[in-house]
Amino acid sequence: MILITGGAGYIGSHVNKELSRAGYETLTLDNLERGHRELVKWGKLEVCDLSDEERLRKILESYPIDAVMHFAAYAYVGESVENPEIYYENNVRNTLNLLKVMRKQGIEYIVFSSTCATYGIPTEIPIKESHPQNPVNPYGRSKLAVEHMLEDYSKAYGLRYVSLRYFNAAGADPDTEIGEWHEPETHLIPIVLETALGERSHVEIYGTDYPTPDGTCIRDFIHVSDLATAHLLALEYLKSGGDSDVFNLGNGAGFSVREVIERAGEITGKNINVVEGNRRPGDPPVLVGSAQKAKKVLGWEPRYGSLDVIIETAWEWHKKLSYLRR
Ligand SMILES: NC(=O)c1ccc[n+]([C@@H]2O[C@H](COP(=O)([O-])OP(=O)(O)OC[C@H]3O[C@@H](n4cnc5c(N)ncnc54)[C@H](O)[C@@H]3O)[C@@H](O)[C@H]2O)c1
Repeated sequence: MILITGGAGYIGSHVNKELSRAGYETLTLDNLERGHRELVKWGKLEVCDLSDEERLRKILESYPIDAVMHFAAYAYVGESVENPEIYYENNVRNTLNLLKVMRKQGIEYIVFSSTCATYGIPTEIPIKESHPQNPVNPYGRSKLAVEHMLEDYSKAYGLRYVSLRYFNAAGADPDTEIGEWHEPETHLIPIVLETALGERSHVEIYGTDYPTPDGTCIRDFIHVSDLATAHLLALEYLKSGGDSDVFNLGNGAGFSVREVIERAGEITGKNINVVEGNRRPGDPPVLVGSAQKAKKVLGWEPRYGSLDVIIETAWEWHKKLSYLRR
């Protein structure tokens, strides 16, 4: 059985679907603070906060867990700058709780949700795993701290891990069973689609004078179902004896903010009201990752890489979510 912390969230719920389809039994552990019971459609659910070490220990004792997929965390960059304490508490200290309990229970494998935010401002594009890690906000630093914890646990206690550094997760389950449901929403594609649905008045573009072809930032969007497949492959890699390692998960191709808004307008057939605002501090012009290593070592091949598929699947989900929220 696979334990999925944060499995009631966006990416964890898609991984739950992928693992269940591949025949794994799953147990989602989530405090539902930022996740939704409605997204846990496969396996079992335990509502528990990772800060409750005693309860965590009891849960891990009562299920035959062979591996952990660890998504539970806070993931808003802006919030992390305003209130770093809760980021170190939840992302670092609570992960330490999890590792302690896993060690007591003799659970050997973990796949960890890391992020491109651990790189900071890129000095080379596309970003490879060997790129220096100099995160520029507490969120990125908290994730880097966990990468280091995993490395140390692996050396000292033999834990085997894969850290997956995602670029921007986007899109939704192609069957529209689950999708992105963040409150508040800070990601570009859902914001654009909420604007198309009339739930927001406009989309703000943060900076139109970047040194890019259309002046707006370029980001690497990776379909959430492709991320899910990579988790399954990472698990199988560890179980077949693969060494602890780190992999980027991105599309390899970037799309500009303006390009995303324009394609979303065409796909939804709606007028998307845009407001051109100022640059935000710490936003690099281009953030694109190389996923060559994941392709080579894990045999990962993204299937939903086109911007159209990413927007189309997200659009189908957001129309459904609009009803769920009422
Ligand atoms: N969404 C992205 O583009 C992206 C990019 C890079 C990395 N990540 C990382 O991937 C992971 C998942 O991201 P997401 O977008 O699905 O986020 P999400 O907020 O949708 O999911 C996180 C889940 O973890 C749960 N959770 C948080 N703290 C918990 C705790 N202490 N105990 C129990 N449950 C807890 C929340 O309730 C939520 O359901 C996060 O670790 C995030 O940092 C996400």
